[in-house]
Amino acid sequence: MEIVIMPSAEHVGRFAAERVVRLVARRPQAVLGLATGSSPSAAYSELARRRAKGIDFSRVRGFALDEYVGIPREAPQSYFSVVRTEIVEPLGMDPSLIRVPDGLAVDLEAACAEYDAAIAAAGGIDLQILGIGGNGHIGFNEPTSSLSSRTRPKALAPRTRRDNARFFAAEADVPEYCVTQGLGTILEAAELLLVAQGEDKAEAIARAVEGPLSSFVPASVLQLHPRALVIIDETAASGLRNSDYYRHALGSEADRWV
Ligand code: GLP
Repeated sequence: MEIVIMPSAEHVGRFAAERVVRLVARRPQAVLGLATGSSPSAAYSELARRRAKGIDFSRVRGFALDEYVGIPREAPQSYFSVVRTEIVEPLGMDPSLIRVPDGLAVDLEAACAEYDAAIAAAGGIDLQILGIGGNGHIGFNEPTSSLSSRTRPKALAPRTRRDNARFFAAEADVPEYCVTQGLGTILEAAELLLVAQGEDKAEAIARAVEGPLSSFVPASVLQLHPRALVIIDETAASGLRNSDYYRHALGSEADRWV
């Protein structure tokens, strides 16, 4: 795992976006794994700015990480809507090239298996963007997720429902179930890029990066991946015991590592 500590959340977004831009410049039909949530939103905003400067995302393909079960696609809380309004539209992506797991399928298991098959048919994910939950989840792979799990339905942890209540009128409105790419699915991406900012993520980052590999900290599965880049700001890095050992980057100097 490569850890890059940036001076601010804004730098995290810029650095992550640069990594995506370089991939797309090399491979205009690249397959991106798309995380939602607040963690990658600065990166998406930067990518929208890069689009305005001429980077073309119209042929890029995308697979979202996860979705709630039972929320209509048009509801603003659905990840289908979030992906559309925060990523696809601002980046000028082609909606027909973007998939989000189907949380409304009658047969969720079959829809999840088909999702993994669609990723494989696209040639696999080139770059999977990830956030991290306060309990160490990635996607919606909550603690105790099998480290080799595939895309599947999953129950949300109480903490996740509390954390995500801010997007709903009340905590009781947060769905109890979701569908998520599995940890095994995520590990198959050619490259992983996890972004995190803020004190709230410090413990999860420390456990994922420096703790033992454990299904209780699903993000620790990144330790198994040969090309995993973790980009965090100083506050998200504040729980790391060995931060001197990791690379600190500032502004354009960060380019050396992408
Ligand atoms: C959400 C999403 C994850 C996301 C994580 C952190 O519930 N399912 O994909 O990475 O939890 O969210 P945030 O970045 O908003 O803190």
